[in-house]
Amino acid sequence: MSWTAEPFKDCVVDLPHTAVELPLDYFDETSYQREFTYQKHLNWSDDFANKEVSLVFDGAMANTRVFLDGVQIGGHKDGYTPFEIRLTPYLKTAGNLITVCVDGSENPEIPPFGGQIDYLTYAGIYREVWLKVTDRLSVQNIMIETDKVLDTNKSVKVSCFLSNPDDLALSGTLKAEILDADSNVIAVQFAEIIGLKTTIDFFELADIHLWTLENPYLYQVRVSLDSDKGIDRIIQKIGFRTADFAADGFRLNGEKLKLIGLNRHQSFPYSGYAQGPASQERDADILKYDLACNIVRTSHYPQSNAFLDRCDEIGLLVLEEIPGWQHIGGDVWKDESVQNVRRMIERDWNHPSIILWGVRINESDDDDAFYQRTNAMAHQLDSTRQTGGIRKHAGSSLLEDVYTMNDFVLGEFEIPHVNQPLTSLRNQSEVTGLPQKVPYLVTEYNGHMFPTKVTDQEQRQVEHVTRHLEVLNAAYGDDNIAGCIGWCMFDYNTHKDFGSGDRICHHGVLTIFREPKFAAYAYASQGSPKNRVVLQPVTYWARGERNIGGTLPLMILSNCDFIRLSFPNGTSIDLQPDTETFAHLPHPPFMLSESDLSGSEVGQWGMRWMDIEMVGYVNNMQVVSRTLLADPVATSLAVTADRSVLTNDRNEVRISVKALDQAGNLMPYIDLPITIEIEGSAKLIGPDVTSLKGGATAFWIRSTRELGEAVIGVHSARFAVEEIHFSVEN
Ligand code: GAL
Repeated sequence: MSWTAEPFKDCVVDLPHTAVELPLDYFDETSYQREFTYQKHLNWSDDFANKEVSLVFDGAMANTRVFLDGVQIGGHKDGYTPFEIRLTPYLKTAGNLITVCVDGSENPEIPPFGGQIDYLTYAGIYREVWLKVTDRLSVQNIMIETDKVLDTNKSVKVSCFLSNPDDLALSGTLKAEILDADSNVIAVQFAEIIGLKTTIDFFELADIHLWTLENPYLYQVRVSLDSDKGIDRIIQKIGFRTADFAADGFRLNGEKLKLIGLNRHQSFPYSGYAQGPASQERDADILKYDLACNIVRTSHYPQSNAFLDRCDEIGLLVLEEIPGWQHIGGDVWKDESVQNVRRMIERDWNHPSIILWGVRINESDDDDAFYQRTNAMAHQLDSTRQTGGIRKHAGSSLLEDVYTMNDFVLGEFEIPHVNQPLTSLRNQSEVTGLPQKVPYLVTEYNGHMFPTKVTDQEQRQVEHVTRHLEVLNAAYGDDNIAGCIGWCMFDYNTHKDFGSGDRICHHGVLTIFREPKFAAYAYASQGSPKNRVVLQPVTYWARGERNIGGTLPLMILSNCDFIRLSFPNGTSIDLQPDTETFAHLPHPPFMLSESDLSGSEVGQWGMRWMDIEMVGYVNNMQVVSRTLLADPVATSLAVTADRSVLTNDRNEVRISVKALDQAGNLMPYIDLPITIEIEGSAKLIGPDVTSLKGGATAFWIRSTRELGEAVIGVHSARFAVEEIHFSVEN
């Protein structure tokens, strides 16, 4: 849908839309904390006659009021959940000016506002808006619950919720079908409509594929309404899986799984929250395929359907939580928060990827009366999932099924060197104070305890990596910890009260542009080499980068069995993973220390620097190699797109730019402004002049919604122009 936004009366905007495009850093975040107005004429269509017509907003931040021809007809006080505005009683055959006032101010009556929050809540209609036209009786929602999932024959219960705003006498039938991944119908059941909720059961379903992380098999449930009051159809995807948190860890489909993941905000540079499905999906792909994570926490609010759908498709588990950050407001605020539990669950209950509902305000103090209500709401709506509630204090009342804890204990220590025993995670009994062990998950660590910029000196980055590895190792080694979810996936824009003064929290293992820091490979290297071979030395390989000089001890993150290092003088050393320091990691890092080099010519490094070649072996086969150069020289600019197709819709493509030396290594300190020129049917998000940070950056483009060609050119003073060509397709 295209909308006109105030104060630019003639400005036609496209959804998703951010009300104020912010600079990357050092901006005034109050600039979007005010009201914005969008307008659209909805011309009468004969298709509306005798129908139910409504507008469905997938998300608008933060307090939305909707008017038709000047009369308020609805509103919504949550920036993260969808809402439907019924137009039927108000639509005229002429007129129908729809005005949407979106107030981006931090209204203390609406969660998460009222205190400080360490992230931004960018104003605007930042997700899609749909025109929904149905018969007067229609299917509003369905809930699909699977049962006996680990038995040979499985069961499914489909609860169908009807929408009947005119209170028509109910009659007719509902048909529910289960379709396999090839859209073959494998089971059908009918039911007479018995009320606004009708339940249809399937029993003895045979030959059903489980939804697993390796093969996330999705079925579809199609429900058709057949009544003289209305015909309708709704389709939802489901997966057959069990997910259980117990005192001795987490099990997916009855099998133990250590949960390893990262927290994700839904923000992007410049565009804030307003990016389309492809960008959301890409973040899920990065977590699963690049970072080898098996879980993500949607900190600190429900995220887009596109993101969750992708998690279902690729097999990435999700902890989803209600909006909030440390602050609990008054009674009106709490009522909204309880409603947020309902809105989140009713939107998302069919996602197999979601394994836990977060029903506390992140890191708030205990408030048993309030959290009994949020837990009751979750359990009443969804009997199939456990609840958690993220806290940061020990001895909190356990009202949830899982004690979910932000454990920042590691921050209280400095790590001089990796070979020292540390407390990386607390013992769960110390945290819960309970006599018995309970289901327990670590939901944050690191973050503000050790902010690390991609341009920070190598030694700091080594420590950043080490801290992530230490926690992973501790989580892997403790059966009473279901897993750990680190803070956080990428750097994010924030309020002046947080971050490095630049309005950025540099807490990510990726930059805000989704380019990896070294710490990204702490996660990536724990994945199987069958999926992706990783060999990442934590060094820029320069004589004078570290204090005092040299690069030792040198850490290499890899999932290879062993690594052979070779030097130009003919010396070579085979390294084994450091299973002593990191006994519990699937793939401990490799360490090269002074003692490994003593006696060899290599150990006598002086001021003459030399190359190093690293070759990784799996099953005695060479699978990867890297050469780090003593004399890196700016050689090429690698410009690559995340997707080869640009579509004429709201899907963006991310384009990454990296300055490389002769051996294809990043040049982290290159001082290189770049200019982006676009010709044809595409436009740029953000500025067209930018610079590399840590040797790399990225930008997003989207189509102008016209078919045709688009040429993206990246210009710089040191390299030839690099171009990427797209044909813009449907
Ligand atoms: C936590 C909080 C996160 C983020 C993080 C930074 O306390 O839950 O939202 O602020 O600290 O480390």
